[in-house]
Amino acid sequence: MNQTKQTVLITGGGSGIGLSIARKFMDDGNTVIITGRNLSKLEKVKVEFPLINIFQSDVTNEEDVKKLANQIQSAFGGIDILVNNAGIMNLIDAGNETNDLLKQFEEIEINLHAPIRMLHYFLPQLKKSKNAVLINVSSGLAYVTFSQAPVYSGTKAAVHFWTQAIRPQLKPHNIRVVELLPPVVDTKLAHDADLKDDNLKPMPTEKLADIFWKDYTKGKEEITPGLSKQLKLMSRLAPKFIFAQLNKQAIPTSI
Ligand SMILES: NC(=O)c1ccc[n+]([C@@H]2O[C@H](COP(=O)([O-])OP(=O)(O)OC[C@H]3O[C@@H](n4cnc5c(N)ncnc54)[C@H](OP(=O)(O)O)[C@@H]3O)[C@@H](O)[C@H]2O)c1
Repeated sequence: MNQTKQTVLITGGGSGIGLSIARKFMDDGNTVIITGRNLSKLEKVKVEFPLINIFQSDVTNEEDVKKLANQIQSAFGGIDILVNNAGIMNLIDAGNETNDLLKQFEEIEINLHAPIRMLHYFLPQLKKSKNAVLINVSSGLAYVTFSQAPVYSGTKAAVHFWTQAIRPQLKPHNIRVVELLPPVVDTKLAHDADLKDDNLKPMPTEKLADIFWKDYTKGKEEITPGLSKQLKLMSRLAPKFIFAQLNKQAIPTSI
């Protein structure tokens, strides 16, 4: 498995988990491209890591993604590795009729439709690569749903099943499919959600990236750092118990 000198595209790579993974790929001598909606955030990352390549691109915007694919084809001759990392999490009470419906649909757009869109437009480039990898970042919540974030949980479970379904389909095209299912990680997403379960101690991004890199370079297909490994096991051994543990507080208190 050739790991260096690859061109790696990471959506939402300007912060959090995406940036920590970007650093691993850069340290290993690969060309790394990161995207996001907020250009000034990407520019700050570029100041810290001059070798990184930045593109302002919204994963929910069809034209942005098509343009990105064309620009990357011209500038880099295509990508070898696509990391579908961009994501958001909203805490929602489905029992509240004043909920913002569009906000919930936006969450589905970013977390679920976008990885499918990204694969669609980057498939020709991945097919041309000799070392193609698709890495989808879902969540440990794909194993056990989290009531406080119902749409989020639904999108992550869908990404998990989509990833499993496409793995054998992409195999004949020599595209390896990897899924990273993080536990609670110390990022803006986790802070913004202001999760009230204090038992969930966020994992530092560096530790998450270390575990990802160790398992990724070993050739693992499903990477389950920290608590995610336990969620996977418990979802099989004692699904009702683990559901109850995770959902003692079903309605978010912070909205
Ligand atoms: N942190 C956790 O506890 C945790 C646990 C399990 C799974 N995850 C997953 O890990 C992934 C990364 O999240 P994170 O925790 O690292 O949070 P984060 O620091 O908030 O990073 C999310 C990134 O996604 C980008 N993004 C959001 N919407 C986008 C869009 N429409 N187009 C392009 N980029 C977009 C954001 O940049 P802009 O705002 O500039 O667009 C941001 O850089 C997500 O898929 C998340 O669901 C996180």
